[in-house]
Amino acid sequence: SLQASFVPKIRPKQVFANQLQPRASTFKVAVLGAAGGIGQPLGLLIKMSPLVSALHLYDIANVKGVAADLSHCNTPAKVLDFTGQSELANCLKGVDVVVIPAGVPRKPGMTRDDLFNINAGIVKTLVEAVADNCPDAFIHIISNPVNSTVPIAAEVLKQKGVYNPKKLFGVTTLDVVRANAFVAQRKNLKLIDVDVPVIGGHAGITILPLLSKARPSATFTEEEVEKLTLRIQNAGTEVVEAKAGSGSATLSMAYAAARFVESSLRALDGDGDVYECSFVESELTELPFFASRVKIGKKGVEAVVSADLQGLTDYEAKALEALKPELKASIEKGVAFVHKQA
Ligand code: NAD
Ligand code: LMR
Repeated sequence: SLQASFVPKIRPKQVFANQLQPRASTFKVAVLGAAGGIGQPLGLLIKMSPLVSALHLYDIANVKGVAADLSHCNTPAKVLDFTGQSELANCLKGVDVVVIPAGVPRKPGMTRDDLFNINAGIVKTLVEAVADNCPDAFIHIISNPVNSTVPIAAEVLKQKGVYNPKKLFGVTTLDVVRANAFVAQRKNLKLIDVDVPVIGGHAGITILPLLSKARPSATFTEEEVEKLTLRIQNAGTEVVEAKAGSGSATLSMAYAAARFVESSLRALDGDGDVYECSFVESELTELPFFASRVKIGKKGVEAVVSADLQGLTDYEAKALEALKPELKASIEKGVAFVHKQA
């Protein structure tokens, strides 16, 4: 009969099955703000990584359900939930990478700096706990305003005597993801090939895509450069306005943050060819923090790619000078916040 003669070949069905090969080394990742708009899809994407053995989810509320839900995905990472300040230390012990998307998002009409009053304190408290419990971890700061929250994190870590500038990253991957998407669309390029470095910071004119360094190299008219640059700089606002009061980018941000986590884990795993743009302590310009491409290795930032700043077009060189005062002020505001509280 059909039943007896037909034995279907059953292959295990996994999303991204090719990524689920067993790995020699695996890592523990914590997400702080894990029940939020970014935190939930980011948790899902990290749960799918074969490089992750444990996923620690922390929030001030609603994280139990998120963790129960994610834990049913049949991928290797073990999911644990932690609620409120009293469970934060346990969440952080032994983790290799801490991702921080905790804090409030923008509504239409707001700048990222308008979030400072609430998010500065949230980031300060969370990074204090990171300093106490996993000072050796890579720290990925997503909470806005990134141009100030990264300097805040640095000052907190310095006060605690554990600052390692090579392991503190402001996540600007979304700017690169957007630049790649918009350039590929405009120039009809295959998405997989496109890579546009984005430097400076992560707010308005401090976001500076270097279209002259785009790969594969493409020629842009002056009008195209202007339009693309403005669109990349305002892409966050584009989403805030489309969401009309319900928040800012969460899904594309989770995608971008997951890419940055995966790159960091590959670096920790010994891959010697990991480059990402990130807002880090930097000597590339006179500003103490600056986003550029960096080479990431087992110990964090191994080098900043200085070549990207050479041979800029006039448009890029002017835009670079124009962004410096705003970026400098945002950095100083972050530093002053921590010192005021001390
Ligand atoms: P959301 O409000 O949906 O989620 C934020 C989460 O943080 C909530 O679950 C909330 O409970 C939690 N939270 C608040 N205070 C906390 C604390 N003290 N400890 C732990 N968790 C706490 O917001 P969202 O859309 O996920 O955005 C989060 C942040 O990310 C915002 O500041 C937003 O501006 C920023 N963001 C940055 C980028 C970037 O490119 N770097 C992109 C998008 C959004
Ligand atoms: C973004 O670029 O989407 C984020 O920084 C969120 C925002 O407020 O625009």
